[in-house]
Amino acid sequence: MKSFIVNKNIMRYEIGNPIDTDAVVNKGSKEVESSIPFFEVQIKDEIRLNLVMGKNNKIYGLGQNIRGINKRGWIYESFCSDDPNHSPDKKSLYGAHNFFIVDGCEKFGVYIDFASKITYDVGYIKKDELNVTIDGKDANIYIITGSGLREITKKFLDIIGKGYVPPKWAFGYLQSRWSYPTGNEVERIANEFIERKIPCDGICLDLDYMEDFKDFTLSEERFPNFKGLVQRLKDKGIKIIPIIDAGVKIEKDYKVYEEGIKNSYFTLDKEGKPFVGAVWPGKVHFPDFLNKDARLWFGMQYKSLIEMGVEGFWNDMNEPAIFYSENGIDKAYKKIDELKKQELNIHTFFQLKDSVNNINNSIDDYKSMYHNTEKGIVNHYNVHNIYGYNMTKSASEGFNKIDNNKRFLLFSRASAIGAHRYGGIWTGDNSSWWEHLIMNIKMLPSINMCGFIYSGADTCGFGSNVDSELATRWNQFSIFAPLYRNHAGRGTRNQEPFAFDIETEEIIRNTIKFRYAMIPYLYSEYMKSINSSDMLIAPLCFEYDDKHASQVEDQLLVGDSLMIAPIYEPNKRGRYVYLPEDMLLWKVKDYNNKILEVINKGHNYIDVNIDEFCVFIRKNKIFVHGEAAQSTEKLNNKTLNLIAFVENKAEYNLYDDDGISKDYKKDKKSNLKIIITVENEKYNIKIENTGNNEVKKLNVTIVTAYGKEIKEIVNI
Ligand code: GLC
Repeated sequence: MKSFIVNKNIMRYEIGNPIDTDAVVNKGSKEVESSIPFFEVQIKDEIRLNLVMGKNNKIYGLGQNIRGINKRGWIYESFCSDDPNHSPDKKSLYGAHNFFIVDGCEKFGVYIDFASKITYDVGYIKKDELNVTIDGKDANIYIITGSGLREITKKFLDIIGKGYVPPKWAFGYLQSRWSYPTGNEVERIANEFIERKIPCDGICLDLDYMEDFKDFTLSEERFPNFKGLVQRLKDKGIKIIPIIDAGVKIEKDYKVYEEGIKNSYFTLDKEGKPFVGAVWPGKVHFPDFLNKDARLWFGMQYKSLIEMGVEGFWNDMNEPAIFYSENGIDKAYKKIDELKKQELNIHTFFQLKDSVNNINNSIDDYKSMYHNTEKGIVNHYNVHNIYGYNMTKSASEGFNKIDNNKRFLLFSRASAIGAHRYGGIWTGDNSSWWEHLIMNIKMLPSINMCGFIYSGADTCGFGSNVDSELATRWNQFSIFAPLYRNHAGRGTRNQEPFAFDIETEEIIRNTIKFRYAMIPYLYSEYMKSINSSDMLIAPLCFEYDDKHASQVEDQLLVGDSLMIAPIYEPNKRGRYVYLPEDMLLWKVKDYNNKILEVINKGHNYIDVNIDEFCVFIRKNKIFVHGEAAQSTEKLNNKTLNLIAFVENKAEYNLYDDDGISKDYKKDKKSNLKIIITVENEKYNIKIENTGNNEVKKLNVTIVTAYGKEIKEIVNI
């Protein structure tokens, strides 16, 4: 094992000869003598880390996974999995996010940079032990020390590099469904949003826009004049966001297939022939995203759609999902033939059932696929977790070549740390269940810890049928997630905001309008998180070091100024909220109508009607918002509204930039610094404006610690 100093708080331990995943941008080069602290370490065919946890130790992190914010009490696996049943007994979902923090007398972070399976037994087999098993002999392990949870996370986010920045329109509402089957239907949906005055910035296209599910093709029959459709909707402020799947259909004369074969850009089987799997298009080959040339080649395929005016994509089935392989099918048929010759009894029945049930996403298939990398041939199993990551990178590399200074929207299903620099993620095929709304609430901060700030779940749920109350409550939560997309699975009930009744439509309209009004704040906070390597959505205990805060997993901090307390149970018209300090409550019904109330520190019961949701403004913080608009490009932020809850001094830096280019990296950005002080019932508002800010007027509402409300207009 070699040990390296990354910086004064971070050490890297290199065991064996690890694959370079490119997840970390600062790996450190100064070699020193040291061994992995905190853990008992065993290195054999696999690497094991063992730690005895104190009774009250908490474990945070592991990104996209099930259960709570504190991960203690379960076994988790890091192995990108195409599994639409996110039941509480699952161990892994679509992402491989190997960063966690041990919060005990000593607090430290651990990042395991490894491209295959890792198992985390967090007090499951033995309730006070943390056992990590890395399925291989070669890995990089980072130990990050620091005084608090937030600080450790920031240090980690710093070494993995700045996160992906989408265009500003990607903070608008996105509507999706598997599928809007024709161009006409897409246009009808777009018009519904416009006519009903429900803000919307994008419609996602699922598989049916393609011809026979072939990537980068268009169905002439269902989507004639695709370019015209893209343009017409763009003129109305709505972008078209097509899906791209990992598998490339095997079909003679299909350009992408032919080019891939000609240049050997597909993954291989044991015999060195292109690996054959089956996904939506039927039999496919998988682009070898771990090969530099293949990755760029695939990335450049996006060009045909970009030339038609497309500015955003979602990448799917990139764990990769394999419904079956020829090998798997042969094995299943053989087993069935064998079983046919035997008497059908309870044992043979289950063997028969399992022979088909276990055919998809089988480890055998992953182990019989190979990548042709710069470092030689690599078995897929050993790099499984970075396949989806490299599909995201592929698209991003393509975008950079196609239009270097433009920001494209990109989000993926499979991911690993490192991919956060190239795109966002959505959390895959959840269901329209209340249980999945609370899972969504608890998952987002852990995903933030692992660098994926542009993330969100399928709002209203993907599988199953949603009811109007769940749809309402889910929207009331999702407005705080950077990726705010409503997506539904095939055969499920429609769940657009207008798919229910007039009353529900009105509530969801108001909710989405609040989101649009909040975009100046959300975007500002997003960009500040990226630029300062921080989280956007955090658990309470990352900010408040008190024993109650660490027990609260159903309230979240959104940016620096807000705390939210969503409703996530049916028929609930209120809830208990824990306040670590006095806060200002804005119970939002209609964002134009502000009724503000100071709520005291401690446990409080708050009534929350179905048409309301709670926004808490933290003490000595300022919340900035504008007016809603039909789409982000129509937002007019010349006049902004400020709500400041000030005991003595509150300060806010409102970041902005052009929202479409990468010029912000060249310092083309603006900052409006607002400082509000209150002393003996006297107040002072100070504004410093740097850069080219469009803000001309501020409607300021100051609420003092005693609940006195002051209104002031400031012209800039
Ligand atoms: C996968 C995706 C889902 C999509 C479907 C069809 O299940 O996770 O979002 O709608 O495939 O493309």
